[in-house]
Amino acid sequence: MLQGKKIVLGICGGIAAYKTVSLLRLLVKAGAEVQVVMTPAAKEFITPVTLSSLSRKPVVSEFFTANTGEWHSHVDLGLWADLMVIAPATASTIGKMANGIADNMLVTTYLSAREPVMIAPAMDFDMYLHPTTRRNLATLQADGVMMVEAEAGELASGLQGKGRMAEPEVIFDHILHFFNDSKELAGKKVLITAGPTHERLDPVRFIGNYSSGKMGYALAEEFASRGAEVTLVSGPVSISTSHAGIKRVDVGSALEMDAAARSAFADCDIAVFAAAVADYRPAMAADAKIKREGVETMDIRLVRNPDIAAGCGALKREGQVTVGFALETDDGVKAAKAKLRNKNLDMVVLNTLKDAGAGFACDTNKVTIISKNDAKSFPLKPKKEVASDIVNEILHCLPNE
Ligand code: C5P
Repeated sequence: MLQGKKIVLGICGGIAAYKTVSLLRLLVKAGAEVQVVMTPAAKEFITPVTLSSLSRKPVVSEFFTANTGEWHSHVDLGLWADLMVIAPATASTIGKMANGIADNMLVTTYLSAREPVMIAPAMDFDMYLHPTTRRNLATLQADGVMMVEAEAGELASGLQGKGRMAEPEVIFDHILHFFNDSKELAGKKVLITAGPTHERLDPVRFIGNYSSGKMGYALAEEFASRGAEVTLVSGPVSISTSHAGIKRVDVGSALEMDAAARSAFADCDIAVFAAAVADYRPAMAADAKIKREGVETMDIRLVRNPDIAAGCGALKREGQVTVGFALETDDGVKAAKAKLRNKNLDMVVLNTLKDAGAGFACDTNKVTIISKNDAKSFPLKPKKEVASDIVNEILHCLPNE
């Protein structure tokens, strides 16, 4: 799978370094040639001997070999590799990378790297959330560094939260995607909204819907696997995605989704509105749990939520393509055509609840893709294949470059 690929594997000093041994094994077994570069602190967590035995190459850590005075060229490494992966990437190394501090072999190699760079951050929960780390990670992402998000779980400190390095298999998957994905949509920015929204009634209750987010997530993965840079604005769902080309922005309510979608919309080439946005929200959300004692009936006053697709549609620039979904119970084509006009969309993906296996929470969908002058019906398929059909149709709408 990775035959002939050359990878610099940077390892920083964090407890997750032990997991990098498994990552190295996966890479070597897949045929990659791997040069390990360690920070001095990484050697406190794992020995270079383990790593050099697996990679069948001496590990590089210092600028010079102590006895011989041999100089290790970070520039040569930067030119040699097809990809540099830093796992774990600690807060300190991320900070150095973001600010150009080249005080060890690993960060110096990073600064000389002509090849793309991928990092798998790992640190304690509070460090991961600290504004400094957020800022540094944002800088690296803006510099084009790919990120394999840290996962939530029990941390070495005993705290629970986000900060645990992604599992070696997940990082390996990102690396496979990097080498094997098509680059058809390289340079294109895609916004996708997905999942339901939760409209707060009080601190423990909300109004929501059954959307699973599966269709939106399948679309995000399809776009990313074709090389696009995807911003996935996701309502509360229980599914995940781990493609390095997807930046996930988690939101709760329709108002939050609207703000996140608008901020990504200005800069995107394609926007797909696949979220099941609540049409209304409670006019007032209670600060404390609403009690039922002595209350037999209750009225909840609802106010309209913004229409995210229509709002973005009104701001659409020449060349931007916008796509919406329509989930209808009857006379779908007429309703879909009305949405096309009202929301200034280029395409509407229609699914009717009348079709078995279509709609919310299923793994399959049966869609008709409606554009201004065309309507194309597809058979019932897994959502992954439906996503591929939708992306193929969207490509016809993109302006020729
Ligand atoms: O009008 P209707 O809800 O049927 O339209 C569905 C389409 O509009 C979907 O693409 C959905 O994501 C989008 N939508 C939205 N914001 C809303 C309601 C719907 O973006 N408030």
